[in-house]
Parts: sequence; C-alpha cells; structure tokens
Amino acid sequence: MTERADFGVAAAEHVAVALDTSDWETFTEWCEFFGPRVGVLKVGLEAYNRWGPDAVARAKRHGKAVFLDAKLHDIPNTVAGAVSAARDQGVDYLTLHVGGGPRMLDAAAAAAGDTLKLLGVTLLTHLDAADLAALDLPGAPAERVAKWAELAARHGCSGAVCSPREVARLRARFEPPFLLVTPGIRPGGDAKDDDQRRTAEPGRALADGSDLLVIGRPLTRAEDRETALRAAIAEIESASTVATG
Ligand code: C5P
Repeated sequence: MTERADFGVAAAEHVAVALDTSDWETFTEWCEFFGPRVGVLKVGLEAYNRWGPDAVARAKRHGKAVFLDAKLHDIPNTVAGAVSAARDQGVDYLTLHVGGGPRMLDAAAAAAGDTLKLLGVTLLTHLDAADLAALDLPGAPAERVAKWAELAARHGCSGAVCSPREVARLRARFEPPFLLVTPGIRPGGDAKDDDQRRTAEPGRALADGSDLLVIGRPLTRAEDRETALRAAIAEIESASTVATG
C-alpha cells in the first residue's frame, strides 16, 4: 500500500477482510476467496487462538499482506517477544493496545524491525460515551482516541486503529505515511444490530483519510460475497473519484 492521498492504489487494496470464524474449513475458504481480491487478510483473536501460526501461514499463502490483530497488551518484555514472534512469521501489520503505555510501545517498536508495521489500537469501536463513563475514563471518545493516537505516533507505531467517526480529525493531525486503520465499516449504511457502535460507510471512511478499511461480517457473512465485495469496492471507488475531483 502507498500513501492514500494519491489514491494511486486500487480500491480493493484498501480493504482488509476480518477472518473471524471458529471453523477451519470456513477460514481457509475465506482465505482462498478474499485473498486475491483484497489488499489485506486479517487474522483476529478468534482464529489465532484456535490455530496460531497456521492461520497466519494460510492467510499468507493466499493473501497479499497479513494483518495479525493480536491487540497485544502486557509488560514491555513480553510484548517485545510476541512482536518478534509475529515478525518471524512474516506478519505485515500487528496491533497492540496504546493503553499499554509508552514503555510497552517502545519495546514493541524495537522488536518490530523494518518489515512489520505496528498499529496502535486507540479505543475499540464498540465503546461509546456511556461505556467510557462506566469505565471512569474522562473525556469524549474522540478526545481519548486523539490522545492515544498521539502516543502511538510518538512511540514507534506506523499507524493507529480508530473508528471511522474519528478518522477525519486524526487525518488532519497526522499526515501520511502515518496509517489510519478503521474497523466498524458498514457498506451501504448497513447499521445492522451487531456490536459495533461508531460505524461508517467505506467511501466515507476513505474520503475522511482512512488507509485501510477493516470489514468482517458484512462481507464474510453476506449471502452473496461476490456482490457484497463488489458493492463495497464500488463505494470506495466513488469516494476516490470525488476526492480526486
Ligand atoms: O465483523 P466486523 O466488520 O465488525 O469486524 C471488525 C473486525 O475489526 C473484528 O475482527 C474486530 O476484532 C476488529 N476490530 C474492531 N475494533 C477495533 C479494532 C479491531 O472491530 N478497534
């Protein structure tokens, strides 16, 4: 992936498909189907905790780039060890929680090497203002996200994960090549009753400055995956056309 601002990358390259399933057959079938069609395959906690490095290897076999969404959060020494293990498996993107603090981020960055890009998770997209109040965390979600993106940028991350609702504000503050990665994408305004709260459509997220759109269930659980993927890509393409005038 190159910088998003030039929109020189085909629309599908901006899509990361979240391969969240408990069934290996389904996982491999999704790798085969989505791997050649999108830029990135994302191995999440469900798949990694079931199949570990086999899941990464399978995604690498079929996909152009692999995103291990491990959401690491531990003491610096342990996180550094996990980062180097991911690097050895050929992972391209790896997440860790910014809430682990500056020393954890620094240790991760030192272990990442040149090929592995670290993405700092700011605030998970299912959390809203009421959840922050329940957790006794001050400020609105957007403020917390901005603060934690700043920490990620200062402490060796190549980018941050945020909700599409916050991406425009972050892009105004962080120029490429700092990557902004957005889950909570719902094509066609499909705000179905799932656990995501701070969502947006793919075209909107890209126009607002997202580099990589993480899309799971709207694609993997679609009755017709081909049509669902085409529709998502068309939404991204139309946003690119508007943005480039
Ligand atoms: O199915 P859906 O499109 O909601 O999938 C979103 C994916 O992005 C899931 O794999 C989820 O774990 C991940 N994710 C997220 N919110 C974050 C970081 C990652 O939803 N802040």
